[in-house]
Amino acid sequence: MARISINKVWKYYGTSPAVRELNLECDDGSFVSILGPSGCGKSSTMRMIAGLEHISAGDILFDGQRINDLPPKDRDVAMVFENYALYPHKSVFDNIANPLRLRGFAADKIKERVTSATKLLEIDHLLNRRPSELSGGQKQRVAIGRAIVREPKLFLFDEPIAHLDAKLRAHMRGEIKHLQRSLGTTMIYVTHDQLEALSMADMIAVMHDGELQQWGTPSEIFNRPVNAWVAGFVGEPAMNFLSAELRSEGGNTVLTHPNFNIPLLPQQVALVNGSAKREVRMGVRPDALSISTTRPDGPVIEGRIYVTELLGGDMLVDVQLADARIRVKTSTDFTGVADDACYMTVNRDKWHLFDIEDGHAYF
Ligand SMILES: Nc1ncnc2c1ncn2[C@@H]1O[C@H](COP(=O)(O)OP(=O)(O)OP(=O)(O)O)[C@@H](O)[C@H]1O
Ligand SMILES: [Mg+2]
Repeated sequence: MARISINKVWKYYGTSPAVRELNLECDDGSFVSILGPSGCGKSSTMRMIAGLEHISAGDILFDGQRINDLPPKDRDVAMVFENYALYPHKSVFDNIANPLRLRGFAADKIKERVTSATKLLEIDHLLNRRPSELSGGQKQRVAIGRAIVREPKLFLFDEPIAHLDAKLRAHMRGEIKHLQRSLGTTMIYVTHDQLEALSMADMIAVMHDGELQQWGTPSEIFNRPVNAWVAGFVGEPAMNFLSAELRSEGGNTVLTHPNFNIPLLPQQVALVNGSAKREVRMGVRPDALSISTTRPDGPVIEGRIYVTELLGGDMLVDVQLADARIRVKTSTDFTGVADDACYMTVNRDKWHLFDIEDGHAYF
């Protein structure tokens, strides 16, 4: 187990930076996810932690000890990649035993650790099979088994379940989280799938273009995104964004748009720094809007139904506004159909306003 500190770390390939001044503090025993789109620098960060890639600038510390110059084999880190890299001609047992054999463990110790790991992963009935005789999920468990028998200080998992089918991914999410909890080993888990990060991690680092955008708990990342980029990346269906204008009207600060005029709550007025007339970006998640075909009391967004989609237990309604289309998540009882006029109420504890220039969140 280890506490991992990443202090002002940069990674350059030639002259272009892939990781820019990254700071992360991963508590001992915690499950940390690095979340971001393809090319944002996730694997580069993992490879620097593992020692497979030179650190261009900054420091990485394990339990306060700088490890920049420590060879990979001395870092006591186990990595699992999307591509499991199992030995095709070795049995499951030998694949998992391999790192222990390389370290000169005695045969009975090897047997003990492999047995315990394969029981935990529920693959103890497959020990004599070769990788070609396993399903994708089983191969992935063998790769994880090979990582855990070493009892390392740190797990680095880089998109380990990205190419499994959706059902197996959902199953493996629970398994990996349970495994990390029962072993208590610090985990850094890379994914581009926001649902994986939100459902598994204690802390999430959201990266974009080599830069850390936000560091927080899943709830902070989802409910209090620091900027419009994080707000748009996290959440499915995605947050709706609308250009609107802040205005003063009769002592209130009102958000105006061709389809609505909605006053800000008093505590929100303080956060937008006064009421000077200006453009902002409003963000609201599909489930923070309620929709009806009859006009309710109070401020509403008026629109016209473009299309409805029944999604099992929920319904998604796409609504056409003057300048944009927004999406509302509602219940399957909703009876509106395409071309009906509709009225939406915003849950004002759950909407967001972003700066139009740099995208930072006022709230
Ligand atoms: N060995 C390399 N040489 C040059 N450029 C590289 C090298 N490895 C990665 N890059 C570049 O660095 C950037 C970050 O790559 P990285 O592999 O860290 O991204 P990632 O977040 O893991 O993406 P993905 O989700 O696609 O795996 C990308 O622009 C990539 O093209
Ligand atoms: Mg990668």
